[in-house]
Amino acid sequence: MKILIVGNGGREHALLWQLKRDAPSARFYATRPNPGMAPLAEAVDLAPTDVEGLANWAEGQGITLTVVGPEIPLARGVADVFRKRGLPLFGPSASAARIESSKAFAKDLMKRVGVPTAAYRCFRRWSEAEAYIQEAGAPLVVKASGLAAGKGAIVCSTTEEALEAARSMLDEGAFGEAGSEVVVEEFMQGEELSIFGVTDGRHVTLLLPSQDHKRIGEGDTGPNTGGMGAYAPIPLATPDRLDEARERIFLPVLDALERSACPFRGLLYAGLMATDEGLKVVEFNCRFGDPEAQVVLPLMDGPLLELLVAVARGGSIAGAEASSSSGTALNTVLASEGYPGSYEKGRPITIPPELEERSDLLVFHAGTRMDESEGLVTAGGRVLSVVGLGPDLERARATSLEGAEAIQFQGKTFRSDIGWRALEPESAGADG
Ligand code: AMP
Ligand code: GLY
Repeated sequence: MKILIVGNGGREHALLWQLKRDAPSARFYATRPNPGMAPLAEAVDLAPTDVEGLANWAEGQGITLTVVGPEIPLARGVADVFRKRGLPLFGPSASAARIESSKAFAKDLMKRVGVPTAAYRCFRRWSEAEAYIQEAGAPLVVKASGLAAGKGAIVCSTTEEALEAARSMLDEGAFGEAGSEVVVEEFMQGEELSIFGVTDGRHVTLLLPSQDHKRIGEGDTGPNTGGMGAYAPIPLATPDRLDEARERIFLPVLDALERSACPFRGLLYAGLMATDEGLKVVEFNCRFGDPEAQVVLPLMDGPLLELLVAVARGGSIAGAEASSSSGTALNTVLASEGYPGSYEKGRPITIPPELEERSDLLVFHAGTRMDESEGLVTAGGRVLSVVGLGPDLERARATSLEGAEAIQFQGKTFRSDIGWRALEPESAGADG
């Protein structure tokens, strides 16, 4: 078996690591693998967005399964190109990926089929957005409709902030083309959870629910990032809530996509809010979440590979279950100083070798690079994911933090409170 992983961040390192556990004798390839992935996969020097180049390469090599990590190649139609040539790829078509690449599309679809989500309006003109925001009043959430690397949603506690956010997107081109359409949403109160559903377009197998921490600062403060840490499983995801997610959210959305002639085959990620009125959708993504994949995948003991192969070949996963071990995983993301704003790159990283030998700790690389003279250096905003594994959340957190503290680079920035809503529920309650 020959498996190609498209992408080279923390999520793709975790995917590669997990698939290698499922199929130790398979040959693995990855597009421009980061230094953590490099020992596990042969390098393919193609950009993840070079969809034609990837298809040519995969066809020439006889690749049995291609797994796409990031959203941009999917939005650009990598799955369509592969499917047209009969090449098995795990990931949705560009038209199904609109569930992530156009928030306006996702919101309209949910409204049409009655999937619970925040009340909203979409705007392309600043004057219309302005009038609506003045009338609706804060709190509001203003979102760039297109892809913005997790940074395009601005939670506004005052009407002035909301006006400023919408004006910057519609009038000043903040987020470029992605912000040329803006979604203005009602602010939802509640705790968030992320659920991954592997789907063949009709049936869905839910993986272990997790919780991301999107804000840069401790106690969930400051601007949104791509995600500063995650843990799984989460007490919030009771069996009743999982049933609710499957019946009221995943299945109606999959059915609506299939009826619109764009069945979703791949990984549907639902970002949900547990509100007093039940679960509501915050967003959908068309791929595994990052940093959630780094905790959900290592806990899986049912073979991920079988599910991905079945979906990639256009088969059915009816009745398939995903089983997970009874432990807990917690991921602390080590970021560059300044992230999610501007930051410097090229800072040397030291990872004590004993960390790599521990069976209760995993270090997944994201923004790292091997420099000829300096060795391992920082090369992105989110640099490393340090995953602690343990019998419970306390132990998983302590292990993850031990690793986070032991790894060194100048400007290292991380949250030491990942999992706080479960570990310190009283302070979470005070926050609402
Ligand atoms: P999104 O890019 O849509 O996932 O939004 C990023 C983050 O902004 C979410 O994970 C939430 O923390 C927050 N957020 C987005 N929409 C809402 C909403 N309607 N109400 C409250 N918080 C929101
Ligand atoms: N963790 C959020 C995302 O992957 O979009």
